[in-house]
Amino acid sequence: MFGLTRARQTAAALAATAAAAATAFLGAPSAVAAPQPIVGGTTTTTTAYPFMMQITDASQNQFCGGTLVAPTKVVTAAHCMAGETTSSIRVVGGRTYLNGTNGTVSRVSRIWVDPDYRDATRGDDVAVLTLSTAMPYTAAKYVSASDTSVYAAGTTARILGWGTTRENGSSSNQLRTATVPVVSDSGCRTAYGSDFVQSDMVCAGYTSGGVDTCQGDSGGPLLIGGVLAGITSWGEGCAEAGYPGVYTRLTTFSALVTAQVTS
Ligand code: ARG
Repeated sequence: MFGLTRARQTAAALAATAAAAATAFLGAPSAVAAPQPIVGGTTTTTTAYPFMMQITDASQNQFCGGTLVAPTKVVTAAHCMAGETTSSIRVVGGRTYLNGTNGTVSRVSRIWVDPDYRDATRGDDVAVLTLSTAMPYTAAKYVSASDTSVYAAGTTARILGWGTTRENGSSSNQLRTATVPVVSDSGCRTAYGSDFVQSDMVCAGYTSGGVDTCQGDSGGPLLIGGVLAGITSWGEGCAEAGYPGVYTRLTTFSALVTAQVTS
């Protein structure tokens, strides 16, 4: 699946993959979309979104996002944890800039990945990290299993991350945010066919594209009414017309997450 870039590729490999995907999909390199200012968003801070965590390697190089839901618990995407161990990653809170050295760095004592997870396009793209050091930041609330009405088509959702600001671009040094409308399940099915697993995924984006999460935003939050309702998971390229971003449908996994948060 194009755009389903593995989290731990180097920036160069990631760019090459994105370029190859764009070329394959659009037919010619010249057809790659023009630069768009996450894609189409604005800069923000971890002061404004204190639950927004960087998931990094041991050298504190960010490769995914995560959401603090309790002082020592972070929700992220299962695909972000592919090939990772508790010793290979860190969680960094309170750090707006990728090149910053401030904030709180924690080791991870446990990685829980949904046992049914195989590949993001098959669903179950959820993981919960247990931190060795409690984060002194306000945690986000997350949806409960019965909150399914949050996904009504057209509802405004907020996305956040340090990912690339265009399909074949580089990461943003500063945290970015944007809002996108939730897409109906039928609309998402039209875009992605059988790769859209309705029970496990929800789509968000404009029909015309232009605003989206992109590579490096994975694992980060989709907030609806300020509450964590989705996890950045995958998409065809980034911000392309007719191809909304795909997010883990958190209501489906809420009870599983709570079991981890309270364990
Ligand atoms: N899989 C990507 C990552 O690991 C996220 C892709 C999101 N794509 C999109 N078009 N919304 O960072």
